Amino acid sequence: MEKRVKEMISMEIKVESGDILKAESDLAVLGSFEDVSLPSVVAGLLEPADFSGWAGQTLLLYPRGAVAPKRLLLVGLGKREKASAETIRRASATAVKEAQKLKVAAVTIGVNGDLRLEPEVTAQAFAEGIELGAYRFARYFTGLAPEQTFEVERATVFTKTGERTRIGLTNGQAIARGVRLARDLVNGPGYAMHPPALGQEALALGKRLGLKVTVLDMAQLTEQGFGGILAVGKGSEHEPRFIVMEYGKASKSTPTICLVGKGLTFDSGGLSLKPADAMETMKSDMGGAAAVFGAMQVVAELKLPLHVVGLVSAAENMPSSNAYRPGDIVKSLSGKTIEVLNTDAEGRIILSDALFYAQRYKPDAIVELSTLTGAIIIALGSHATGLFATEQALADKLSRAGEISGERVWQLPLWDEYHQMIKSELADLKNIAGRPAGSITAGAFLAAFVGDYPFAHLDIAGTAWVDRPAKPYDSHGGTGVGVRLLTEFLKEYN
Ligand code: BES
Ligand code: ZN
Ligand code: ZN
Repeated sequence: MEKRVKEMISMEIKVESGDILKAESDLAVLGSFEDVSLPSVVAGLLEPADFSGWAGQTLLLYPRGAVAPKRLLLVGLGKREKASAETIRRASATAVKEAQKLKVAAVTIGVNGDLRLEPEVTAQAFAEGIELGAYRFARYFTGLAPEQTFEVERATVFTKTGERTRIGLTNGQAIARGVRLARDLVNGPGYAMHPPALGQEALALGKRLGLKVTVLDMAQLTEQGFGGILAVGKGSEHEPRFIVMEYGKASKSTPTICLVGKGLTFDSGGLSLKPADAMETMKSDMGGAAAVFGAMQVVAELKLPLHVVGLVSAAENMPSSNAYRPGDIVKSLSGKTIEVLNTDAEGRIILSDALFYAQRYKPDAIVELSTLTGAIIIALGSHATGLFATEQALADKLSRAGEISGERVWQLPLWDEYHQMIKSELADLKNIAGRPAGSITAGAFLAAFVGDYPFAHLDIAGTAWVDRPAKPYDSHGGTGVGVRLLTEFLKEYN
């Protein structure tokens, strides 16, 4: 069972330019706008009141020879002027989910009416929706029914053909593979996906993609003074690790971006133990690390013209007689001391080492992702990732990437007053500052370790895991949030 995450094989996605209703298919999926009338042959198959085309509406029709496809699924796209890449992403995910349900191996997908999107954007969204809608984490099931394991083999998208479409498809498939990798890492149970296993995953990724990967073990962490990671990891039988993954090389014309991820393979809270229900999903506390893995894979596959360094602090936070305690004072890699008041605010402690380490690359930007605070779930729910930044231009780039990728972010302030709140009576910093502004004080804590380098912190505690998915391209468990956002950010970075 403790097998390494396998290299994902993408579905075959083809593009055709003709009329989807004239192409034979066991299932054709037709995206339909609220304000564009259906082709008359389709309109003749239903009662008009049964389908208005609101975003997400579906209606399965059996045309019985009226059109070439055997089955026709109408998927509502809402109003045409509001349609975005996200509309296409959701509709195509709905399409493959229906194909899985009906056990159709080859599905055709098209849109009724003109899409006001660039062909590259459209094709990328189709590919992302199709690949992510098909995602399942089935590794631990035994005796599944055939409809639960059925794999759709091929999707044919009816849209404009051409070079831009081809590029969009390739990008979308690579991005989706990155997201699927991140989901697999998060969904892997804590006993299997422990810090050394995460280190092995990094080495495997490096080998597959030609990245330079270094994994620091306990002895190296001790020798080099990674006090934060060591303190948090002390209570677990699984040793902590620090992972460095490097793509490309630094040069005058090539920007260096550091991506930093929180890799708590399981967060019990430590001695400040979490209540049982809060612990249920805490194998997902390495969602930031998973996003960094996924993004590194995409960056390498798409050969982006950048120098990207992925840094992951990996540890398991457990209570034991050897665990770090409330009241302990930890000396981080930076030399700064941290008073630990609550062992459950461990993410910021392991990240302090990684963020300080990032400075050695003299990066143009440090972008860090972590499932850091429950407070961000109170603020934003699951509809946006919290964004905190020391440089507005960097925040703006990430906000824009969020809109385009569909992984929205929302900025909160990092004013001086918040930095004051995390000063300790006994050490340089304390790791908690009470409930008020809990997500912001956590962000302020992190910012103390990046020096003057432009820094953004993304709190993904509300977006990395979903119990009951609201979007058709999500499924229960890890969402892989961050991969699409980071890829868009890096693609447009200049
Ligand atoms: N990993 C948690 C944050 C979290 C909560 C992620 C819910 C996903 C869902 C983090 O390590 C933590 O426990 N934070 C504490 C901080 C507090 C002790 C200041 C929290 O948010 O309660
Ligand atoms: Zn915690
Ligand atoms: Zn945590």
